[in-house]
Amino acid sequence: MRVAVIGAGYVGVVTAAGFAEFGNEVVCVDKVPEKVEMLRKGEIPFYEPGLQELVGKNLKEGRLVFTTDSPQAIRDSLVIFIAVGTPPRGDGSADLSYVEEVAREIADNLNEYKVVVTKSTVPVGTSLRIKEIIETCKNNSTQFDVASNPEFLREGSAVYDFMHPDRVVIGTDSDAAKAILRDLYRPLYLRETPFVFTDLKTSELIKYASNSFLAMKISFINEIANLCDTLGADVHVVARGMGLDGRIGPKFLHPGPGYGGSCFPKDTMALLRMAQEAGYHFRLVEATVQVNLSQQERAVEKIRQALGGKLEGTVIGFLGLSFKPNTDDIRESPALRVAKMLLEEGAALRVFDPAAMKNAAQVLGNGCVYCKDSYHAVQGAQAMVVATEWNQFRNLDLAKAREAMKGDVLVDLRNVYEPEKAKALGFKYIGMGRR
Ligand SMILES: NC(=O)c1ccc[n+]([C@@H]2O[C@H](COP(=O)([O-])OP(=O)(O)OC[C@H]3O[C@@H](n4cnc5c(N)ncnc54)[C@H](O)[C@@H]3O)[C@@H](O)[C@H]2O)c1
Repeated sequence: MRVAVIGAGYVGVVTAAGFAEFGNEVVCVDKVPEKVEMLRKGEIPFYEPGLQELVGKNLKEGRLVFTTDSPQAIRDSLVIFIAVGTPPRGDGSADLSYVEEVAREIADNLNEYKVVVTKSTVPVGTSLRIKEIIETCKNNSTQFDVASNPEFLREGSAVYDFMHPDRVVIGTDSDAAKAILRDLYRPLYLRETPFVFTDLKTSELIKYASNSFLAMKISFINEIANLCDTLGADVHVVARGMGLDGRIGPKFLHPGPGYGGSCFPKDTMALLRMAQEAGYHFRLVEATVQVNLSQQERAVEKIRQALGGKLEGTVIGFLGLSFKPNTDDIRESPALRVAKMLLEEGAALRVFDPAAMKNAAQVLGNGCVYCKDSYHAVQGAQAMVVATEWNQFRNLDLAKAREAMKGDVLVDLRNVYEPEKAKALGFKYIGMGRR
Protein backbone atom coordinates (compact mmCIF):
# COMPACT_ATOMS: atom_id res chain seq x y z
CA MET A 1 0.00 0.00 0.00
CA ARG A 2 1.22 3.54 -0.72
CA VAL A 3 1.17 5.64 2.39
CA ALA A 4 2.08 9.27 3.08
CA VAL A 5 2.83 10.53 6.58
CA ILE A 6 2.78 14.32 6.85
CA GLY A 7 4.96 15.61 9.69
CA ALA A 8 8.32 14.05 10.55
CA GLY A 9 8.28 14.53 14.31
CA TYR A 10 8.29 11.81 16.99
CA VAL A 11 4.95 10.42 15.83
CA GLY A 12 5.44 10.88 12.09
CA VAL A 13 8.85 9.22 11.80
CA VAL A 14 7.86 6.28 13.99
CA THR A 15 4.59 5.81 12.07
CA ALA A 16 6.33 6.07 8.70
CA ALA A 17 9.12 3.65 9.64
CA GLY A 18 6.61 1.29 11.27
CA PHE A 19 4.34 1.08 8.22
CA ALA A 20 7.41 0.66 5.97
CA GLU A 21 8.52 -2.22 8.20
CA PHE A 22 5.08 -3.79 7.61
CA GLY A 23 6.01 -3.85 3.90
CA ASN A 24 4.29 -0.69 2.64
CA GLU A 25 5.75 2.03 0.44
CA VAL A 26 5.90 5.04 2.69
CA VAL A 27 6.77 8.64 2.02
CA CYS A 28 7.27 10.85 5.06
CA VAL A 29 6.97 14.60 4.55
CA ASP A 30 8.19 17.54 6.58
CA LYS A 31 8.34 21.18 5.67
CA VAL A 32 11.68 21.71 7.42
CA PRO A 33 14.32 20.90 4.75
CA GLU A 34 17.18 20.36 7.27
CA LYS A 35 15.11 17.72 9.08
CA VAL A 36 14.36 15.91 5.82
CA GLU A 37 18.02 16.10 4.79
CA MET A 38 19.08 14.43 8.06
CA LEU A 39 16.40 11.74 7.79
CA ARG A 40 17.41 10.94 4.22
CA LYS A 41 20.89 10.14 5.54
CA GLY A 42 19.33 7.90 8.19
CA GLU A 43 19.99 10.40 10.98
CA ILE A 44 17.18 11.01 13.47
CA PRO A 45 16.70 14.66 14.52
CA PHE A 46 15.72 13.60 18.05
CA TYR A 47 16.66 10.84 20.49
CA GLU A 48 14.48 7.74 20.30
CA PRO A 49 15.93 4.28 21.04
CA GLY A 50 15.74 1.82 18.13
CA LEU A 51 14.38 4.34 15.63
CA GLN A 52 17.64 4.92 13.76
CA GLU A 53 17.97 1.18 13.05
CA LEU A 54 14.35 0.91 11.86
CA VAL A 55 14.61 3.98 9.63
CA GLY A 56 18.03 2.88 8.29
CA LYS A 57 16.78 -0.60 7.42
CA ASN A 58 13.70 0.65 5.57
CA LEU A 59 15.60 3.40 3.76
CA LYS A 60 18.10 0.81 2.58
CA GLU A 61 15.40 -1.60 1.46
CA GLY A 62 13.71 1.22 -0.47
CA ARG A 63 10.33 1.20 1.28
CA LEU A 64 10.79 4.53 3.07
CA VAL A 65 11.59 7.96 1.64
CA PHE A 66 11.67 11.42 3.15
CA THR A 67 10.72 14.54 1.24
CA THR A 68 9.57 18.15 1.51
CA ASP A 69 7.35 17.68 -1.55
CA SER A 70 3.93 17.19 0.03
CA PRO A 71 1.90 17.67 -3.20
CA GLN A 72 3.71 14.75 -4.84
CA ALA A 73 3.49 12.61 -1.69
CA ILE A 74 -0.25 13.24 -1.46
CA ARG A 75 -0.87 12.50 -5.13
CA ASP A 76 1.10 9.24 -4.95
CA SER A 77 -0.61 7.83 -1.86
CA LEU A 78 -3.82 5.99 -1.06
CA VAL A 79 -3.65 6.66 2.68
CA ILE A 80 -2.45 9.99 4.11
CA PHE A 81 -1.67 10.29 7.80
CA ILE A 82 -1.65 13.75 9.30
CA ALA A 83 0.98 13.70 12.07
CA VAL A 84 1.81 17.38 12.47
CA GLY A 85 1.95 19.16 15.82
CA THR A 86 -1.12 20.47 17.64
CA PRO A 87 0.57 22.72 20.22
CA PRO A 88 -1.38 24.53 22.92
CA ARG A 89 -2.62 28.06 22.32
CA GLY A 90 -2.54 30.65 25.08
CA ASP A 91 -6.05 29.70 26.21
CA GLY A 92 -5.20 25.97 26.45
CA SER A 93 -7.02 24.95 23.27
CA ALA A 94 -5.16 22.99 20.59
CA ASP A 95 -3.69 25.01 17.74
CA LEU A 96 -5.08 23.33 14.63
CA SER A 97 -3.45 25.61 12.08
CA TYR A 98 -0.88 22.96 10.98
CA VAL A 99 -3.58 20.30 10.64
CA GLU A 100 -5.79 22.63 8.63
CA GLU A 101 -2.87 23.63 6.40
CA VAL A 102 -2.32 19.95 5.55
CA ALA A 103 -6.05 19.48 4.87
CA ARG A 104 -5.91 22.32 2.32
CA GLU A 105 -2.81 20.78 0.69
CA ILE A 106 -4.65 17.47 0.42
CA ALA A 107 -7.62 19.21 -1.20
CA ASP A 108 -5.31 20.86 -3.75
CA ASN A 109 -3.77 17.52 -4.69
CA LEU A 110 -6.74 15.17 -4.58
CA ASN A 111 -6.14 13.33 -7.85
CA GLU A 112 -7.83 10.02 -6.92
CA TYR A 113 -9.65 8.36 -3.98
CA LYS A 114 -7.78 8.69 -0.67
CA VAL A 115 -8.25 7.99 3.00
CA VAL A 116 -7.18 10.96 5.13
CA VAL A 117 -6.29 9.83 8.63
CA THR A 118 -5.68 12.08 11.62
CA LYS A 119 -2.92 10.74 13.84
CA SER A 120 -2.24 14.05 15.54
CA THR A 121 -4.11 14.50 18.81
CA VAL A 122 -7.03 16.71 17.85
CA PRO A 123 -10.14 17.96 19.65
CA VAL A 124 -13.43 16.22 19.05
CA GLY A 125 -14.90 17.38 15.77
CA THR A 126 -11.57 18.06 14.02
CA SER A 127 -11.80 15.12 11.60
CA LEU A 128 -15.20 16.43 10.50
CA ARG A 129 -13.62 19.86 10.09
CA ILE A 130 -10.86 18.30 7.94
CA LYS A 131 -13.56 16.67 5.82
CA GLU A 132 -15.31 20.01 5.44
CA ILE A 133 -12.07 21.81 4.44
CA ILE A 134 -11.22 19.20 1.79
CA GLU A 135 -14.83 19.20 0.53
CA THR A 136 -14.81 22.98 0.22
CA CYS A 137 -11.31 23.45 -1.20
CA LYS A 138 -11.05 20.58 -3.71
CA ASN A 139 -11.54 21.55 -7.30
CA ASN A 140 -12.85 18.26 -8.70
CA SER A 141 -15.32 15.52 -7.84
CA THR A 142 -12.75 13.01 -6.54
CA GLN A 143 -14.01 11.03 -3.55
CA PHE A 144 -12.20 10.69 -0.24
CA ASP A 145 -12.87 9.48 3.28
CA VAL A 146 -11.63 10.67 6.63
CA ALA A 147 -10.64 8.61 9.66
CA SER A 148 -9.27 9.20 13.12
CA ASN A 149 -6.46 6.95 14.33
CA PRO A 150 -5.01 8.45 17.54
CA GLU A 151 -1.48 7.54 18.50
CA PHE A 152 -0.65 6.17 21.95
CA LEU A 153 3.12 5.63 21.65
CA ARG A 154 5.38 6.67 24.51
CA GLU A 155 8.54 8.60 23.73
CA GLY A 156 11.48 6.47 24.85
CA SER A 157 9.79 3.23 23.78
CA ALA A 158 7.99 4.51 20.69
CA VAL A 159 9.23 1.82 18.29
CA TYR A 160 8.17 -0.99 20.62
CA ASP A 161 4.83 0.71 21.23
CA PHE A 162 4.15 1.05 17.50
CA MET A 163 4.88 -2.63 16.95
CA HIS A 164 3.12 -3.84 20.12
CA PRO A 165 0.30 -1.42 20.89
CA ASP A 166 -2.19 -2.19 23.65
CA ARG A 167 -4.88 -1.32 21.12
CA VAL A 168 -5.45 0.37 17.78
CA VAL A 169 -8.34 2.84 17.69
CA ILE A 170 -9.91 3.64 14.34
CA GLY A 171 -12.80 6.04 13.98
CA THR A 172 -14.54 6.37 10.66
CA ASP A 173 -17.99 6.40 9.15
CA SER A 174 -16.77 4.81 5.92
CA ASP A 175 -16.67 1.05 5.33
CA ALA A 176 -14.04 1.53 2.60
CA ALA A 177 -11.72 3.47 4.94
CA LYS A 178 -12.25 0.89 7.66
CA ALA A 179 -11.29 -1.95 5.30
CA ILE A 180 -8.20 -0.12 4.01
CA LEU A 181 -6.95 0.72 7.50
CA ARG A 182 -7.61 -2.79 8.73
CA ASP A 183 -5.53 -4.01 5.82
CA LEU A 184 -2.73 -1.54 6.58
CA TYR A 185 -2.62 -2.69 10.20
CA ARG A 186 -2.89 -6.34 9.14
CA PRO A 187 0.38 -7.46 10.81
CA LEU A 188 -0.96 -6.24 14.16
CA TYR A 189 -4.43 -7.61 13.47
CA LEU A 190 -2.91 -11.03 12.88
CA ARG A 191 -1.02 -10.71 16.17
CA GLU A 192 -4.38 -10.32 17.90
CA THR A 193 -3.87 -6.70 18.88
CA PRO A 194 -7.28 -5.44 20.07
CA PHE A 195 -8.91 -3.06 17.58
CA VAL A 196 -11.55 -0.52 18.53
CA PHE A 197 -13.62 0.55 15.53
CA THR A 198 -15.86 3.48 16.22
CA ASP A 199 -17.06 6.83 14.89
CA LEU A 200 -14.84 9.87 14.39
CA LYS A 201 -15.80 11.82 17.50
CA THR A 202 -15.57 8.87 19.87
CA SER A 203 -12.14 7.97 18.51
CA GLU A 204 -10.89 11.53 19.03
CA LEU A 205 -12.21 11.58 22.59
CA ILE A 206 -10.59 8.21 23.46
CA LYS A 207 -7.16 9.85 23.11
CA TYR A 208 -7.96 12.77 25.43
CA ALA A 209 -9.76 10.54 27.92
CA SER A 210 -6.77 8.15 28.05
CA ASN A 211 -4.13 10.84 28.51
CA SER A 212 -6.17 12.78 31.04
CA PHE A 213 -6.85 9.62 33.02
CA LEU A 214 -3.13 8.76 33.15
CA ALA A 215 -2.31 12.35 34.15
CA MET A 216 -4.95 12.10 36.88
CA LYS A 217 -3.41 8.86 38.15
CA ILE A 218 -0.01 10.59 38.42
CA SER A 219 -1.47 13.60 40.22
CA PHE A 220 -3.34 11.22 42.53
CA ILE A 221 -0.24 9.31 43.61
CA ASN A 222 1.65 12.60 43.96
CA GLU A 223 -0.99 13.80 46.40
CA ILE A 224 -0.79 10.48 48.26
CA ALA A 225 3.00 10.96 48.44
CA ASN A 226 2.51 14.47 49.83
CA LEU A 227 0.18 13.01 52.45
CA CYS A 228 2.72 10.29 53.25
CA ASP A 229 5.29 13.02 53.91
CA THR A 230 3.06 14.52 56.56
CA LEU A 231 1.64 11.30 57.99
CA GLY A 232 4.88 9.33 58.03
CA ALA A 233 3.71 6.54 55.69
CA ASP A 234 5.64 5.09 52.73
CA VAL A 235 4.14 5.87 49.33
CA HIS A 236 5.90 2.94 47.65
CA VAL A 237 4.17 0.45 49.86
CA VAL A 238 0.89 2.32 49.49
CA ALA A 239 1.29 2.23 45.68
CA ARG A 240 2.13 -1.47 45.74
CA GLY A 241 -0.80 -2.21 47.97
CA MET A 242 -3.07 -0.25 45.65
CA GLY A 243 -1.57 -1.52 42.40
CA LEU A 244 -2.06 -5.18 43.25
CA ASP A 245 -5.79 -4.52 43.00
CA GLY A 246 -6.59 -5.57 39.44
CA ARG A 247 -9.10 -2.73 39.17
CA ILE A 248 -6.34 -0.17 39.83
CA GLY A 249 -3.17 -1.70 38.34
CA PRO A 250 0.44 -0.84 39.28
CA LYS A 251 1.34 1.50 36.41
CA PHE A 252 1.51 5.28 36.72
CA LEU A 253 1.63 5.09 40.49
CA HIS A 254 5.16 6.52 40.81
CA PRO A 255 5.40 9.83 42.63
CA GLY A 256 7.66 12.58 41.33
CA PRO A 257 7.82 16.26 40.45
CA GLY A 258 4.74 15.95 38.22
CA TYR A 259 3.99 14.89 34.67
CA GLY A 260 5.36 16.71 31.63
CA GLY A 261 6.17 16.15 27.99
CA SER A 262 4.48 17.22 24.83
CA CYS A 263 1.23 15.37 25.56
CA PHE A 264 -0.20 15.24 29.10
CA PRO A 265 0.00 18.98 29.93
CA LYS A 266 -1.31 19.97 26.50
CA ASP A 267 -4.00 17.30 26.28
CA THR A 268 -5.40 17.88 29.78
CA MET A 269 -5.65 21.60 29.01
CA ALA A 270 -7.28 20.91 25.65
CA LEU A 271 -9.81 18.55 27.25
CA LEU A 272 -10.69 21.22 29.82
CA ARG A 273 -11.14 23.75 27.05
CA MET A 274 -13.21 21.34 24.99
CA ALA A 275 -15.44 20.57 27.99
CA GLN A 276 -15.80 24.26 28.79
CA GLU A 277 -16.88 25.02 25.22
CA ALA A 278 -19.44 22.22 25.52
CA GLY A 279 -20.76 23.80 28.72
CA TYR A 280 -19.32 21.15 31.02
CA HIS A 281 -17.08 21.85 34.02
CA PHE A 282 -14.57 18.96 34.18
CA ARG A 283 -13.50 19.26 37.82
CA LEU A 284 -11.33 16.14 38.03
CA VAL A 285 -9.07 17.20 35.17
CA GLU A 286 -8.97 20.76 36.46
CA ALA A 287 -7.69 19.49 39.82
CA THR A 288 -5.22 17.18 38.04
CA VAL A 289 -3.64 20.17 36.29
CA GLN A 290 -3.49 22.26 39.47
CA VAL A 291 -1.92 19.46 41.50
CA ASN A 292 0.66 18.96 38.78
CA LEU A 293 1.78 22.57 38.80
CA SER A 294 2.03 22.74 42.58
CA GLN A 295 4.07 19.52 42.64
CA GLN A 296 7.06 21.31 41.12
CA GLU A 297 6.78 24.14 43.65
CA ARG A 298 6.69 21.48 46.34
CA ALA A 299 9.87 19.92 44.93
CA VAL A 300 11.67 23.27 45.16
CA GLU A 301 10.39 23.68 48.71
CA LYS A 302 11.75 20.24 49.62
CA ILE A 303 15.18 21.18 48.26
CA ARG A 304 15.09 24.50 50.13
CA GLN A 305 14.16 22.80 53.42
CA ALA A 306 16.86 20.18 52.94
CA LEU A 307 19.40 22.98 52.51
CA GLY A 308 18.37 24.63 55.77
CA GLY A 309 15.86 27.07 54.24
CA LYS A 310 18.23 28.82 51.85
CA LEU A 311 18.76 28.32 48.13
CA GLU A 312 20.64 31.48 47.23
CA GLY A 313 24.32 30.80 46.71
CA THR A 314 24.04 27.04 47.21
CA VAL A 315 25.66 24.70 44.70
CA ILE A 316 23.35 21.94 43.47
CA GLY A 317 24.32 18.97 41.30
CA PHE A 318 21.17 18.57 39.21
CA LEU A 319 20.67 15.23 37.43
CA GLY A 320 18.07 14.87 34.70
CA LEU A 321 16.50 17.54 32.48
CA SER A 322 14.36 15.63 29.97
CA PHE A 323 10.70 15.17 30.87
CA LYS A 324 11.29 11.44 31.29
CA PRO A 325 14.13 8.94 30.70
CA ASN A 326 15.23 7.75 27.24
CA THR A 327 14.32 10.93 25.44
CA ASP A 328 15.91 14.30 24.73
CA ASP A 329 12.46 15.91 24.78
CA ILE A 330 12.28 18.78 27.26
CA ARG A 331 8.82 20.02 26.34
CA GLU A 332 6.99 20.86 29.61
CA SER A 333 9.67 18.94 31.51
CA PRO A 334 9.01 19.11 35.26
CA ALA A 335 12.77 18.64 35.83
CA LEU A 336 13.52 21.70 33.74
CA ARG A 337 10.82 23.72 35.49
CA VAL A 338 12.33 22.82 38.90
CA ALA A 339 15.81 23.72 37.59
CA LYS A 340 14.52 27.09 36.37
CA MET A 341 12.86 27.84 39.71
CA LEU A 342 16.07 26.97 41.56
CA LEU A 343 18.05 29.29 39.30
CA GLU A 344 15.52 32.07 39.86
CA GLU A 345 16.02 31.64 43.59
CA GLY A 346 19.75 32.16 43.18
CA ALA A 347 21.03 28.56 43.40
CA ALA A 348 24.10 27.65 41.35
CA LEU A 349 23.27 24.60 39.22
CA ARG A 350 25.69 22.03 37.84
CA VAL A 351 23.49 20.05 35.46
CA PHE A 352 23.77 16.76 33.60
CA ASP A 353 21.37 14.78 31.42
CA PRO A 354 22.37 11.82 29.21
CA ALA A 355 20.49 13.14 26.13
CA ALA A 356 18.78 16.47 26.74
CA MET A 357 21.73 18.82 27.46
CA LYS A 358 21.62 20.53 24.09
CA ASN A 359 17.88 21.15 24.19
CA ALA A 360 17.98 22.23 27.85
CA ALA A 361 20.82 24.68 27.19
CA GLN A 362 18.51 26.59 24.84
CA VAL A 363 16.16 27.18 27.77
CA LEU A 364 18.57 27.50 30.69
CA GLY A 365 21.18 29.54 28.80
CA ASN A 366 24.45 30.49 30.45
CA GLY A 367 22.95 30.46 33.91
CA CYS A 368 24.32 27.05 34.90
CA VAL A 369 27.32 24.76 34.47
CA TYR A 370 26.82 21.96 31.92
CA CYS A 371 28.68 18.88 33.13
CA LYS A 372 30.10 15.87 31.32
CA ASP A 373 28.62 13.25 33.65
CA SER A 374 26.82 12.78 36.97
CA TYR A 375 29.98 12.78 39.11
CA HIS A 376 31.16 15.97 37.45
CA ALA A 377 27.76 17.52 38.19
CA VAL A 378 27.88 16.78 41.92
CA GLN A 379 31.50 17.93 42.26
CA GLY A 380 31.68 20.34 45.21
CA ALA A 381 27.88 20.49 45.48
CA GLN A 382 26.00 20.94 48.73
CA ALA A 383 23.10 18.94 47.37
CA MET A 384 22.46 16.40 44.65
CA VAL A 385 18.98 16.43 43.08
CA VAL A 386 17.69 13.62 40.86
CA ALA A 387 14.91 15.01 38.70
CA THR A 388 14.55 12.42 35.89
CA GLU A 389 14.84 8.68 36.49
CA TRP A 390 17.40 7.71 33.84
CA ASN A 391 18.78 4.20 34.44
CA GLN A 392 22.31 5.54 34.70
CA PHE A 393 21.25 7.62 37.70
CA ARG A 394 19.72 4.54 39.30
CA ASN A 395 23.04 2.77 38.88
CA LEU A 396 25.17 5.64 40.15
CA ASP A 397 28.03 4.81 42.51
CA LEU A 398 26.54 6.78 45.39
CA ALA A 399 29.69 6.47 47.51
CA LYS A 400 31.72 8.06 44.72
CA ALA A 401 29.12 10.80 44.30
CA ARG A 402 29.10 11.46 48.05
CA GLU A 403 32.88 11.76 48.03
CA ALA A 404 32.80 14.29 45.20
CA MET A 405 30.25 16.45 47.02
CA LYS A 406 30.90 19.14 49.57
CA GLY A 407 27.57 18.69 51.33
CA ASP A 408 25.46 15.65 52.17
CA VAL A 409 21.97 16.42 50.86
CA LEU A 410 20.38 14.00 48.39
CA VAL A 411 16.93 15.03 47.14
CA ASP A 412 15.53 12.11 45.20
CA LEU A 413 12.54 13.57 43.33
CA ARG A 414 12.01 10.23 41.56
CA ASN A 415 12.53 7.84 44.48
CA VAL A 416 15.21 5.90 42.62
CA TYR A 417 17.43 5.15 45.63
CA GLU A 418 16.94 3.09 48.74
CA PRO A 419 16.73 5.61 51.60
CA GLU A 420 18.53 3.30 54.01
CA LYS A 421 21.45 2.71 51.65
CA ALA A 422 21.80 6.42 50.95
CA LYS A 423 21.71 7.18 54.66
CA ALA A 424 24.34 4.53 55.35
CA LEU A 425 26.64 6.35 52.93
CA GLY A 426 26.28 9.53 54.93
CA PHE A 427 23.59 11.23 52.86
CA LYS A 428 20.78 13.26 54.30
CA TYR A 429 18.17 11.57 52.09
CA ILE A 430 14.89 13.20 51.10
CA GLY A 431 12.52 11.34 48.80
CA MET A 432 8.93 11.83 47.77
CA GLY A 433 6.51 10.42 50.32
CA ARG A 434 8.98 8.04 51.95
CA ARG A 435 9.39 7.73 55.66
N1 LIG B 1 5.21 12.92 20.97
C1 LIG B 1 4.43 12.00 21.47
O1 LIG B 1 4.81 11.23 22.35
C2 LIG B 1 3.02 11.86 20.97
C3 LIG B 1 2.30 10.70 21.27
C4 LIG B 1 1.00 10.56 20.80
C5 LIG B 1 0.42 11.60 20.05
N2 LIG B 1 1.13 12.72 19.80
C6 LIG B 1 0.50 13.76 18.97
O2 LIG B 1 0.98 13.64 17.64
C7 LIG B 1 1.11 14.93 17.03
C8 LIG B 1 2.54 15.15 16.58
O3 LIG B 1 3.37 15.12 17.72
P1 LIG B 1 4.97 15.10 17.62
O4 LIG B 1 5.48 15.02 19.00
O5 LIG B 1 5.37 14.10 16.61
O6 LIG B 1 5.20 16.59 17.02
P2 LIG B 1 6.56 17.24 16.53
O7 LIG B 1 6.45 18.67 16.84
O8 LIG B 1 7.74 16.45 17.00
O9 LIG B 1 6.50 17.04 14.92
C9 LIG B 1 5.60 17.67 14.08
C10 LIG B 1 6.28 17.86 12.73
O10 LIG B 1 5.32 18.31 11.78
C11 LIG B 1 5.99 19.19 10.86
N3 LIG B 1 5.00 19.98 10.15
C12 LIG B 1 4.17 20.95 10.61
N4 LIG B 1 3.37 21.40 9.63
C13 LIG B 1 3.68 20.70 8.52
C14 LIG B 1 3.20 20.69 7.19
N5 LIG B 1 2.23 21.50 6.78
N6 LIG B 1 3.76 19.83 6.31
C15 LIG B 1 4.75 19.01 6.68
N7 LIG B 1 5.24 18.95 7.93
C16 LIG B 1 4.72 19.79 8.85
C17 LIG B 1 6.92 19.98 11.76
O11 LIG B 1 7.97 20.57 11.01
C18 LIG B 1 7.40 18.88 12.72
O12 LIG B 1 8.60 18.28 12.26
C19 LIG B 1 0.62 15.93 18.08
O13 LIG B 1 -0.74 16.18 17.87
C20 LIG B 1 0.81 15.18 19.38
O14 LIG B 1 -0.07 15.62 20.38
C21 LIG B 1 2.42 12.87 20.21
